[in-house]
Amino acid sequence: MMPPFLASHFAGFFGENPFRACVRHFRRAMRYAVSLTRKVRLGVLGSGKGSNLDALAKYCARAESAMEISIVLSDVENAGILSLAKSHGLKTGFVAPGKFRTKLDEEAERRFIEELRRGEVDFVVLAGFMRILKGEFLRAFSEKVINIHPSLLPSFPGLEAWRQALEYGVKVTGCTVHFVDQGIDSGAIIAQQVVPVLDNDTPATLHARIQAAEWELYPRAIEEVALCRVKVQGRRCFRPA
Ligand code: GRF
Repeated sequence: MMPPFLASHFAGFFGENPFRACVRHFRRAMRYAVSLTRKVRLGVLGSGKGSNLDALAKYCARAESAMEISIVLSDVENAGILSLAKSHGLKTGFVAPGKFRTKLDEEAERRFIEELRRGEVDFVVLAGFMRILKGEFLRAFSEKVINIHPSLLPSFPGLEAWRQALEYGVKVTGCTVHFVDQGIDSGAIIAQQVVPVLDNDTPATLHARIQAAEWELYPRAIEEVALCRVKVQGRRCFRPA
């Protein structure tokens, strides 16, 4: 392996540690090769009603789709997303989240990883999953976890982003598809869609229009990543020509 001082020299030159860049290129090449031979498999995690899962399932059901949903998992036993998934004929599972309120405990995290590996997923897609994913999980699916957030990040991370936007008084908000990292709604941004805030908006009407934008944006953005059309360099995601 290249000595660290040389690596950092080249890092300055190319903008990225060359060893990491090689690993990244190799992974992309592997993913691309996989996408030519079979559909890209998605594992979906959600805690709520699952309207994004619905949009994604419909998108994947098109004959020309290069993606398929391998499994849908929830930390909430009676979550709408599980019944919706079943109505699409998808495999589902409930994993008890353990003793914490906002994250998975170690055992739960292991079980989520096991279930996703059993489903041989290539990417993990969050669709309203209300637990923070950390260390072990993100290492198991490094750079393969994607989320959608109902604001134009980095504005209004966290809960009820549409309400935050309305109360702040911004004139436009929207939704953001991003990779998941250790922070909260802080990973590299893959795609965004703008939604105007109207004078007569309530939190409910604004949220409804943002959700409609999510159903359009999310499946397409996931597909771009799945088909290796998105290159990540630091915080920036590019579509190479
Ligand atoms: C979406 O608004 C998404 O932005 C956020 O959680 C919500 C999930 O909604 N991460 P649904 O369960 O897909 O309807």
